Amino acid sequence: MEPTTVKKKSPQRFEEDPKPQMSEGMKKLKKRAARTAGFIGTLASAAKETVAAVKEDVQATRERDPAARSNKEVLLLYPGIHALAAYRVAHRLHEKGYYFGARAISQTARAITGIEIHPGAKIGKGLMIDHGMGVVIGETAEIGDHCTLYQGVTLGGTGKDVGKRHPTLGNNVLVGAGAKVLGPFRIGDNTKIAANAVVLAEIPDQCTAVGIPARVVKKDGVKVEDELDQIHIPDPVAQEIRRLEEKLAALEGELSEIKKQTKGRK
Ligand SMILES: CC(C)(COP(=O)(O)OP(=O)(O)OC[C@H]1O[C@@H](n2cnc3c(N)ncnc32)[C@H](O)[C@@H]1OP(=O)(O)O)[C@@H](O)C(=O)NCCC(=O)NCCS
Repeated sequence: MEPTTVKKKSPQRFEEDPKPQMSEGMKKLKKRAARTAGFIGTLASAAKETVAAVKEDVQATRERDPAARSNKEVLLLYPGIHALAAYRVAHRLHEKGYYFGARAISQTARAITGIEIHPGAKIGKGLMIDHGMGVVIGETAEIGDHCTLYQGVTLGGTGKDVGKRHPTLGNNVLVGAGAKVLGPFRIGDNTKIAANAVVLAEIPDQCTAVGIPARVVKKDGVKVEDELDQIHIPDPVAQEIRRLEEKLAALEGELSEIKKQTKGRK
């Protein structure tokens, strides 16, 4: 009986073996897993940053809302604080390109608080959104530090602009209840927009603007007089008649003087 010989694979054959390829399905799965891990990582770091920001938001509400009695009350019961906390997480996700997750968070916050803040908006420190219901802050809106917005405020677009469509608020701006600020212009530092005003153009620093469309009624604490009184407009026809009456009276005077002189000569 012949001894059995074990056939060895030649090294040549190993080299010829095609490298095992990852299937398309596996590639997609791996990509999705990496994206999910990135999403969770961003969410965790955003949550950490939000805790610090919320402390400032609570402080802002304590300073500006005389009805706020304790930090606990503000933190647990103020919808403005909840909407801002959700926004800060959503904004971080939006910046990292997780648009769907960011919108999902902002829409959930809107359903709970009645405040809609687009994750793309840029918001500074110490914003107070008082009462909050019906507040809308558009995608390209920017808000400086220590601003105050009341219920029903819209920082929106007119529908005519593309790209930057929403307003920019400076620092320490107050926007009263129901006011609409529409368009890609700036509202200056320390400016107040009155309740129910509709602002369609830039308002400088340190002003108070009221009405529809909004006009500046105060600048640096001093009343601004209207250049033209739109109600008491002078009547040009009446003015002309008055001038003619004056001329007639003068002519009558001259005539009676002439009559007197000619009577004396006779
Ligand atoms: C505008 C506002 C901020 C006051 O600012 P201010 O610089 O102190 O202005 P003044 O109060 O001196 O008012 C200036 C002029 O604007 C008028 N004005 C004030 N608020 C107005 C408004 N909402 N709509 C129309 N005119 C208004 C005033 O009557 C005054 O007119 P006058 O000069 O002819 O008398 C304040 O009136 C306001 O609207 N705050 C919003 C507060 C809010 O929304 N609260 C909701 C709580 S739930």
